[in-house]
This record gives sequence, C-alpha cells and structure tokens, in this order.
Amino acid sequence: MSTVTKPAPAVVSAAPAAKPTVPFMLPQLHEADIEAVNKVLRSGMLRAASKCEELEKRLGEMSGAKHAMTCANGTCALQLAYEPLFKRGDDVLVPAWSYIATAAMLVARGCNPIFVDADPTTGQIDMNDAAKRVTKKTTGIAATHMYGTPVDIDAVQDLAKKHGFKVVYDCAQSHLSTYKGQPVGKFGDAVTYSFYATKNLGTGEGGMITCNDDALARQIKLLRSHGETEKYLHEQVGYNYRMNDMAGAIACSRLDRLPAETAARQQAAARYDSLLSEFSAFITPMRATPGSVSVYHLYTLKLNIEKLRCSRDEFSKQLLAEGVPSAVHYPRSLPQQPAFKEFMGMQTAPWPVADSLGARVLSLPMHHGLTDAHFDQITTAIRKVISANKA
Ligand SMILES: Cc1ncc(COP(=O)(O)O)c(C=O)c1O
Repeated sequence: MSTVTKPAPAVVSAAPAAKPTVPFMLPQLHEADIEAVNKVLRSGMLRAASKCEELEKRLGEMSGAKHAMTCANGTCALQLAYEPLFKRGDDVLVPAWSYIATAAMLVARGCNPIFVDADPTTGQIDMNDAAKRVTKKTTGIAATHMYGTPVDIDAVQDLAKKHGFKVVYDCAQSHLSTYKGQPVGKFGDAVTYSFYATKNLGTGEGGMITCNDDALARQIKLLRSHGETEKYLHEQVGYNYRMNDMAGAIACSRLDRLPAETAARQQAAARYDSLLSEFSAFITPMRATPGSVSVYHLYTLKLNIEKLRCSRDEFSKQLLAEGVPSAVHYPRSLPQQPAFKEFMGMQTAPWPVADSLGARVLSLPMHHGLTDAHFDQITTAIRKVISANKA
C-alpha cells in the first residue's frame, strides 16, 4: 500500500450535492417481471419448480454448459461446486483480488486458500504468479471472472492440465461473458453464478452452478437437496441450498432483456474508455483479458494516486459532491482480510499488485441506462476533481 503523505484535499464544490444525480446502477424491475412473480404467487407453487427449471435450461444453454443447477445464492453455488471437486486439506489456488466468498467457501470446505496475485492490467488472477505458488498439496484452482471479464482461461486450463487440477470459475459477476468466441460455461469443471440483487441478472438472492459432466451434475443436485434420491430417501448428507420459483420467475423475465442490457453496458464501457483517455496520466481503466468479451458488471479503474494530492476515498467524495456516485471493489485484498489470518503462514510470497489495488480502485456508474447527459456530468466531474487535486 502507498505510504505517500497527502496534504489536505482541495475543496471542489462549495455546496456538495446531497445525493447522487447519476444512478450508480439500475436494478429496477419491469412490469413484466412483477407479472411473472404474480403468476407464481397465484399458482401457489413457490418452491423451485418450472421457473427454476426454465432458467436452468435457458441460462445453461446461453452459457454453453450441458448442465445447470439453480441454488440459493452465489456463495452456496461455490460450496456446491467445491464439495465434490476438492477434499479437506487440499491447497487450492485462489485470487488475492476477489470477493471474499471465492476463498471463504474453500475454507468452509476445509481447504487451504493459496492466494495468487492480480494482473496489474486486468485485475484478474495472474497465472504466471499462480504457477509459482503450486505446492505438493495443490489440487485445484478457483478463479474469479472479476468485474464481468473472463480470466486468461487458456493459462488456467494449461496449468490445470499440467498438474491434473480441478478448476472452478466464479462467474458471479460475469453472466454471458465469452472467451475466444466461446461462452464461459464451456471451460473448467464447474462455473458458479450469483443472482444477488445488483448482479447483471439480479433476483434478490439466487445462484447457479453449471458443468459439463453428468456424474458431477448428479452429485451437485444431491448435495443441493439433502442427498435425496426419492421422497425421504437420502443417499448422502447434503444441504437445502435450493432457489425458489419467485426468484426463478424474476430471473427468466429479466433474462429476456439481459442480452440487450449487456450490449448497452458494453457500449457504455467503450464510451468510458474513450472519454477517460483524456485523463490517462491519472486514471487507468481495468482492461479486459485478451481474447475475452467483458459484460462489464462494473466499470472499475485505478487511480494513479502518486500523481494526485488526494486519496481515492477523497476523490470519490469529491465526485459525489458533483452528483457522481462511485464505489470501491474492493478496499483490501483477501490476504489483508482478518478472516484468513490463520492461512498466512503457508503463503510463499507477498501480493504487491493486489495489496496496492485496495487504495486505488474506483468503480464508476455502470448500467444499461447511462445517457449522454450522464456521461457529460461524469466527465465534467472527473475533470474538475483531477484539476483540483493534481500533484
Ligand atoms: C465474485 C463473487 N463471488 C461470489 C459472490 C457471492 O454471491 P452471493 O452474494 O449470491 O452469495 C459474489 C457476490 O457478490 C461475487 O461478487
């Protein structure tokens, strides 16, 4: 983390805006979504039924996977994927730069998370670093497609092939993303999704696992529902990690719009890329992995804080004073989380990139409804904050 001392921040706006005037995200439901839920409510069949099945079929196909299993949320999806693929005591490579669930569910499985540094250009898992951290007990890789962007899947699969590793891709942020022209569900042993309220496909809570192996799909389905093979016959111990049909109905209805909304996000990202080039000395957007097509769950950039007289948090506050909200994904790397302190002794090297990102990253408004006026307001605000804080 930077140790640069900052003088007091420059005051940009005399009368700070009380609240954002550009929406950071646009998770609103349409009438069609509400009607779809009403239909489920009227049917009285609230458990996972036809709507969850429809979602599994449609999103599974769109993701290029043979099997799709809905579940309660993205955290449960990781647990359901990890349990059959990893054993207690396994070392599993996992990004130092991700949401906590990717690594936390390894710990829940009894595995040791071996944290891998981030690539400075993309923010994704750095597979050169991963190769250096392989231990005798390493049996797998759990890689997150961060911000909407697939990781370097070729490099993950190459390392996995070399060592016989299992691979789980955490795709909570990256529904419908592609790698080298293929939907991401084609790769790895399992891919997990979240339908948390603010995700590109949000249902409140919800999740899904995809895979291409019949036996693994069967195991995941058993684990999802108390190992039940017929009514009250339990072949093994499992969980209740099922989704419900109200969430399924919202997801199916939203899925009708997801391709168009994704295209709008991609256009917004291209617009940001071009507008922000004016500030290239101060701002570097996270780039998509070569060969990947990002779905821009987030538009995240790195601030060059050495060239600014303010911290990232002060920058963010000053943008808000201009009505422009931003967010931090995330304020610290996973090795810096107290939750993982017992695993620090087994790590072989530090994480200079991931550890430095916590003080620099900033996510700008990203959704399918950004207008010309929004982009004007955002660019003007950034210009103002940068000129007030240039070192
Ligand atoms: C990368 C990543 N993995 C896993 C999750 C967990 O998903 P959920 O919140 O649905 O449990 C999230 C959600 O924020 C996420 O962003």
